[in-house]
Amino acid sequence: MNVLKFLDQKISAALMAAGAPADSPAMIRQSARAQFGDYQSNGAMPVAKKLGMNPRELAQKVIDNLDLSETADKIEIAGPGFINIFLKPEWMAATLAGYSKDERAGVAKTEKPQTIVVDLSAPNVAKEMHVAHLRSTVIGDAVSQTLEFLGNKVVRANHIGDWGTQFGMLIAHLEELQKTNPDVMNSELGDLEEFYRQSKKHYDEDEAFAERARNYVVKLQGGDEWCRQQWQKLVDVTMEQNLRTYKRLGVKITAEDTMGESMYNDMLPGIVADLKEKGLAVEDNGAMVVYLDEFKNKDGDPMGVIIQKRDGGYLYTTTDLACAKYRYDNFGADRILYYIDARQAQHLQQAWTIVRKAGFVPENVTLEHHYFGMMLGKDNKPFKTRAGGVVKLATLLNEATARAEKLINEKGADMTAEQKAQVVNAVAMGSVKYSDLSKNRTSDYVFDWDNMLSFEGNTAPYMMYAYTRVQSIFRKAGVEAASLTGDIKITEQAERELAIKLMQFSEAVDGVAREGMPHILCSYLFELAGAFMKFYEFCPVNKDDVAADVKNSRLQLCALTARVLKLGLGCLTIETVEQM
Ligand code: ARG
Repeated sequence: MNVLKFLDQKISAALMAAGAPADSPAMIRQSARAQFGDYQSNGAMPVAKKLGMNPRELAQKVIDNLDLSETADKIEIAGPGFINIFLKPEWMAATLAGYSKDERAGVAKTEKPQTIVVDLSAPNVAKEMHVAHLRSTVIGDAVSQTLEFLGNKVVRANHIGDWGTQFGMLIAHLEELQKTNPDVMNSELGDLEEFYRQSKKHYDEDEAFAERARNYVVKLQGGDEWCRQQWQKLVDVTMEQNLRTYKRLGVKITAEDTMGESMYNDMLPGIVADLKEKGLAVEDNGAMVVYLDEFKNKDGDPMGVIIQKRDGGYLYTTTDLACAKYRYDNFGADRILYYIDARQAQHLQQAWTIVRKAGFVPENVTLEHHYFGMMLGKDNKPFKTRAGGVVKLATLLNEATARAEKLINEKGADMTAEQKAQVVNAVAMGSVKYSDLSKNRTSDYVFDWDNMLSFEGNTAPYMMYAYTRVQSIFRKAGVEAASLTGDIKITEQAERELAIKLMQFSEAVDGVAREGMPHILCSYLFELAGAFMKFYEFCPVNKDDVAADVKNSRLQLCALTARVLKLGLGCLTIETVEQM
């Protein structure tokens, strides 16, 4: 259950009963400090202002209309009219005992499951995946996973860049390489970045080649069989590499999720015709343009968005119009989330303004740009190799693995080679992902090997280690977590602090689903792990003088902690291991 939501409903009703207009928000939140209780409602003050009432008097009226006798043992008015709620330990204990028997640890599936399309990863064909694609992949997949955990249907849409005029030169270059090396697809295309660079160089330096390349673009667009085959080879070789990377990273993006730009190609003439018919697109100098009052150019005039060039070619924006329409028509999406770099904000806003005006996607279906900042090096500059090139994802993951191996070797836990390899991989991939997920995605973040592979702080190794700590408590106790029954008792302060955290898992998961921000869940899990460590310090479990019922209750809190950590890290696509 989501306690915050539960209290919100209760207080909203009480506000109404106290004379507040319908839909006055209870403005409920988790209290920042224990002296303000566990939750606090700030809703009385704005309502009192509206009604010309004394806010503390209104707050008292709200409390008079509030029945929380089962849930809270103290409700106080503080300051100008805050309502502070202190939860009853007995209620918390009973609720947690229920969670203890629930494999979802109290997180209910959503009452109204939605179909949610998530635009994520979206690397480009014949190019290496770079860090922006890593961010989009990791954040997009964690949010997808969380939405699925809540029972929604998620369509991961991998909008790969597999169309455009560059394919003429890529096909022409591939053709030349094949002349001397028929096996080129297997041998030379391992380094796509190099292949792309060579093609471009060739194109810039050799006019006959450039001419051929331009011809291939026309042929490819006209559906020429051979050009299409060559194009397909490039797409396949790129996606084979990328799918291997997804697998290695432990994200759930599959071949079926590939829905690249080319897929919408056939829709584009219809889109342009439709916009023309609706009077939205006009001809300007031979091109088709949509003028938008909502956006102004440098001179303060409505900005023109080109949707078809003079030569008949279509643009990145045209494809995004078709793609939004397709996602609504074909999947019946209720929400469409886009995990794309902040720099594409204007592009998306313009595209969606057109989408709305054309009625391609109705207003009740949200189009949400869940943008993210750049990944920076330790020098605070965009993450690059020393020579200024893109850092290949495979190189980055190899380094993560090497560093994780060193870390695990230093720890020196007793493991078989097989166990160790699994732990190393989980730590390596977990660290790369967690360091990205744990930061608020809207800002740039610094990629720092030492930080992300540390056992201290809000890191994957720390979280994974906390989980293994709980497992070792059970090993020592010689008890199976699943076999525990009996009451939970909350008497010590450290037990209470752990208990309240355990009750708030649902709120963190809902937060990620709503905002598309995985760091909400990371922060929560970090606090939970902290509360657990403190609990473990002050509330012995396995000591001889602990009474049997107390031990049993504490073991249940331990078991629930482990379950929440595992489920929560699972939502973030981070693997847990039994020991490390
Ligand atoms: N391939 C694009 C890039 O590398 C990202 C595509 C994002 N998705 C979209 N629907 N435009 O920048």
